[in-house]
Order: sequence, then structure tokens, then C-alpha cells
Amino acid sequence: MRKMLSGTHILVTAGPTHEPIDPVRYLANRSSGKQGFAIAGALAAHGARVTLVAGPVTLPTPPGVERIDVETAVQMQAAVEAALPVDAAVMVAAVADWRVESAGQKIKKGAGGPPTLRLVENPDILAGLAASPRRPRLLIGFAAETEHVIDHATTKRARKNVDWIVANDVSGDVMGGTANTVHIVTADGVESWERMPKDAVATKLAERIAAALA
Ligand code: CTP
Repeated sequence: MRKMLSGTHILVTAGPTHEPIDPVRYLANRSSGKQGFAIAGALAAHGARVTLVAGPVTLPTPPGVERIDVETAVQMQAAVEAALPVDAAVMVAAVADWRVESAGQKIKKGAGGPPTLRLVENPDILAGLAASPRRPRLLIGFAAETEHVIDHATTKRARKNVDWIVANDVSGDVMGGTANTVHIVTADGVESWERMPKDAVATKLAERIAAALA
């Protein structure tokens, strides 16, 4: 039987990024990668060719998914560009907004007291893809919010020029947890889904994506 997403190529980013401070230390965030991996798996189960660009996580690769492991935001951006062209991209990764300006040798405790870290901004991979001549025909961003979830997501959709924003309310135990409460913000408005397991969010989203690409 022909599956809903047969013949499509979809890119998914997932997980955190790690930004080195020096060769033994890094800046990170609490993203577990579970939601992004579940989405990659659901898309593959529906017949898509899936390229999953994953930050450092310990999750198994879902069946049928081509996985590229990266560590930093700059590496993630390069892997995303290398995966193009794609029909759709689902940018679930919690990309670090900043990296340490120069991460040279191991920083030693010394008489100078605690070091000062100079941060520089990382590339915004999603906004870059939105502005690119190779922009996928369906571009989906995630937004992790702890308050004014829908307002912030609506603003972000317009600002980043993406088709859909999946707004995540991360004020509870979402990061690392197995359930998620999301709102789908599109040009047509906002749809709030009940709290459900991340696998169920993934399946429902994969069905939406199939309908949009059909
Ligand atoms: N994103 C990205 N590259 C970055 C930062 C974010 O691709 N350097 C993507 C994420 O994968 C996600 C969306 O952009 O799809 C999140 O946008 P962002 O503006 O970073 O939202 P928040 O993390 O919610 O940040 P803020 O609270 O600063 O609005």
C-alpha cells in the first residue's frame, strides 16, 4: 500500500546543541530530543525519506531514519544545508542562541579569579532556511515558551517567516518528560491540542504534514 508521505524527503532537527567553553566543558540546555526523534520516526513510518540532524542525545535512531549527529549550532547548520533540498523541514532542535567566542585550551583555576566568558550569537538555522532560495515548501518551527505561549508563537511565526509554529508550553516537566502540550500556529489561526504523549503529538503532526504536502 502506498503510504501518505511516500516520495517526500523531510528534514528534522532535534535535541540540544553543546557549545564548547574549552576542550572539557560546554554550554548546554535541557532538551532531551524525544519530541524530535518521535516526529522523525512518525514521518518515516508514513513513508517519508527522513534526514534527522541530531544534537548530542542518547536516544536510539528510529527505524528507517537517516541520522546525522552534530554537536554545535554551527555544525547543525552545515548538516541542514547539506541535506537540502527537502519538501518539508521540522526544526525541533533547541539550538543554543550563543556560543563561547573562543574555546582554546582548558581554562585553569588561577589567581585571576573566575573567568569571564564572552558569548557570540549563533546562526539562526530556521530563519536562515526561511530566507534561503532552497526554502522547503513547508517549514515548521518549534517555540519553547513558559508564558504568553500563543502570543509569542504567533509573533515568532511572522518574524521567522515560517509556515507553522508548534508552540510548546515548557513551564511544566516537558523537557525530558514523555508528554507534551502543543498549539499549532498557522496562517489560518491557532489549534490547541490536548496534552498527550510525545509519540501521539508526532503521529498527529505527521498526518498534518502529509495533508499539507498532498
Ligand atoms: N532555531 C534555530 N536556530 C537557532 C535558534 C532557534 O533553528 N539558532 C529554531 C529552533 O529549532 C526552533 C525555533 O527556531 O524551531 C525556536 O526559535 P527561537 O527564536 O530560538 O525560540 P525560542 O527558543 O523559543 O527563543 P526565545 O525565547 O528567545 O524567543
